[in-house]
Amino acid sequence: AQQVPDILSPEFAADPYPAYRVMRESAPLIWHEATGSWIISRYEDVERVFKDKGGQFTTDNYDWQIEPVHGRTILQMSGREHAVRRALVAPAFRGSELQEKFLPVIERNSRELIDAFRHTGSADLVTDYATRFPVNVIADMLGLDKADHARFHRWYTAVIAFLGNLTGDPEVTAAGQRTRVEFAEYMLPIIRERRDNLGDDLLSTLCAAEVDGVRMSDEDIKAFCSLLLAAGGETTDKAIASIFANLLLHPEQFAAVKEDRGLIPLAFAETLRHTPPVHMIMRQSATEVELSGGTIPAGATVTCLIGAANRDENRYRDPDRFDIFRDDLTTTTAFSAAADHLAFALGRHFCVGALLAKAEVETGVNQLLDALPDLRLADGYDPAEQGVFTRGPQTLPVRFTPAAG
Ligand code: HEM
Repeated sequence: AQQVPDILSPEFAADPYPAYRVMRESAPLIWHEATGSWIISRYEDVERVFKDKGGQFTTDNYDWQIEPVHGRTILQMSGREHAVRRALVAPAFRGSELQEKFLPVIERNSRELIDAFRHTGSADLVTDYATRFPVNVIADMLGLDKADHARFHRWYTAVIAFLGNLTGDPEVTAAGQRTRVEFAEYMLPIIRERRDNLGDDLLSTLCAAEVDGVRMSDEDIKAFCSLLLAAGGETTDKAIASIFANLLLHPEQFAAVKEDRGLIPLAFAETLRHTPPVHMIMRQSATEVELSGGTIPAGATVTCLIGAANRDENRYRDPDRFDIFRDDLTTTTAFSAAADHLAFALGRHFCVGALLAKAEVETGVNQLLDALPDLRLADGYDPAEQGVFTRGPQTLPVRFTPAAG
């Protein structure tokens, strides 16, 4: 058998895709000592675990991954508790709530960031735009004071550092724990106050939501808002960075998208398949489970490699190629993420913010192309992905003709 590079090695972090191929081909189920988990990499296996038709998997492992920084969130829940929580929060992220209430928030926050650099001729699409836009959108959707956006951004940075702290750096751990305390001190009084003065924002929707006589407590709402920082911030940040990196590296496809903006949904879908923001998701087995390559015992942690599954040659033709015109994506202009790739997971935890993410990315790409029509990479710059659990370019310096007026 071929040697599989360790998922925690620098070599893997630099380029995981060759390792993913070896795993899919010759080691589709591996015991990984350092993370204490079983790693799976084939599309059919990851899809099966996410869909979980037989009720064999839980998210109980999130009690040690997510709980310390966010508290108890929808991600840790299962069964009826999860179904009720999902019904409480999901309506805010689709339909008229999204289109009428939050699309204007998305458009406004994107425009404000672009206005800050469009006259300058140069920008870093990651640090000046992608890392700020989704976090500002969440803060603004929640109806928080604009003066608090900077504080929100600081918490966001601490939370994603905590979640990505593979080496267990004690300073990062301490900063994450401090953030949990600071965030609660900030949010809880706002939530209490909002209950008495309901408005048109997401926080008010969450305060008022009721399903089968169940409502969310202040603590529940605070934990959900905290989760949104990471779940809705870092992911969309990386999706925007990656869609631009992919298009800038493929000038013909970029030209086609500029010519026909109707292709942006395809570029988004292909980016999520080819370079997904979240590469790994963990589950816990409730029973003994057979997967390709062998048997996982009950109570085991399973690391599902989305980044590997999305490039499975048994699912996609020429999977390493970025191609917005590939015929094995079903997306046209309709939204069919669940049929196209595993970037939003599947099954009961399928990303509740998928349509919001799509609206943010499409708005962002459209506005950036309007404002910077000759957008190009800074001379000699070669975009590089970084990260292991989540992955994307950390910097994307670009040049353009400064906007007049
Ligand atoms: C769940 C990816 C954007 C909120 C998930 C999961 C994935 C994911 C893989 C499943 C996690 C698991 O099963 O353990 C993404 C990607 C995004 C994105 C790639 C951007 C391109 C967003 C946005 C929001 C959001 C914008 C909301 C503001 C959530 C929430 C869950 C979730 C609350 C938990 C759902 C549940 O447990 O039922 N997302 N997400 N996500 N996402 Fe997203």
